[in-house]
Amino acid sequence: MRLPSLGRAATLIEMTGLEMTGKGGTEQPAPVMPGMTAPMTAPVRVAILISGRGSNMAALLDAAAAPGYPAQMALVLSNRPDAAGLDHARARGIEALCVDHRPHGRDRAAHEAAIHAALQARGIGLVCLAGYMRLLTPFLVGAWAGRMLNIHPSLLPAFPGLDTHARALAAGCKLHGCTVHLVTDQMDAGPILAQAAVPVLPSDDANALAARVLRQEHLLYPLALRLLAEGRPGRSDAGASLRNPQSFDPSPPLPPPAAGT
Ligand code: GRF
Repeated sequence: MRLPSLGRAATLIEMTGLEMTGKGGTEQPAPVMPGMTAPMTAPVRVAILISGRGSNMAALLDAAAAPGYPAQMALVLSNRPDAAGLDHARARGIEALCVDHRPHGRDRAAHEAAIHAALQARGIGLVCLAGYMRLLTPFLVGAWAGRMLNIHPSLLPAFPGLDTHARALAAGCKLHGCTVHLVTDQMDAGPILAQAAVPVLPSDDANALAARVLRQEHLLYPLALRLLAEGRPGRSDAGASLRNPQSFDPSPPLPPPAAGT
């Protein structure tokens, strides 16, 4: 299976290995029974946590519907009953659950305990935050350490937090983008799994830039999840390191920089 192209405008600029595979990306092949061509491992069950429109959620559902995708989208969970993504998930036959934060008031622990119980009851193995707009406490982060991902609309560690596109414009950035990272106690500061970069154009306002980044988010998140689910976040299908964009992007290589630049 080919990795999806991130297009000429975007460049996957880093994909780092995790402890589960080792820095060098050493991979253990899954067992295959005689006469079988597919590994015996069942696809990991994934929950997507949202608070709003859910376009990244939809991209993950699309990707997981393709044959051979190593993760099964088992649950979409929102803290808001009016999240548009819930209806979209239901329409696609995915269980969609609201665990409303409001009845819990300021008791974040109680809200997170309810979320955790829902995840456990469904045999969830990985959690993808996709526009989930609640700060998490160490309880939920700790319970899912190494198994909870987030997508953030900037090239972390630049611009953690909100209003990333306006801040990138105000800072005069020429490159901007998105990051998929593991979730830790520090907001938007966990280990980076993958990044995609886009150019900032002179005509951009925050909306135009956000739209360009969002197109890359929809490609990057399924790619990062796939590699994590396969236990090889630092390697491409061909075994080439994803640190080299040309290893997965079929567009012609960029020309070398001119001398003296
Ligand atoms: C995305 O920009 C994502 O990077 C950020 O929240 C936004 C969610 O958008 N974490 P959507 O709900 O996936 O459309």
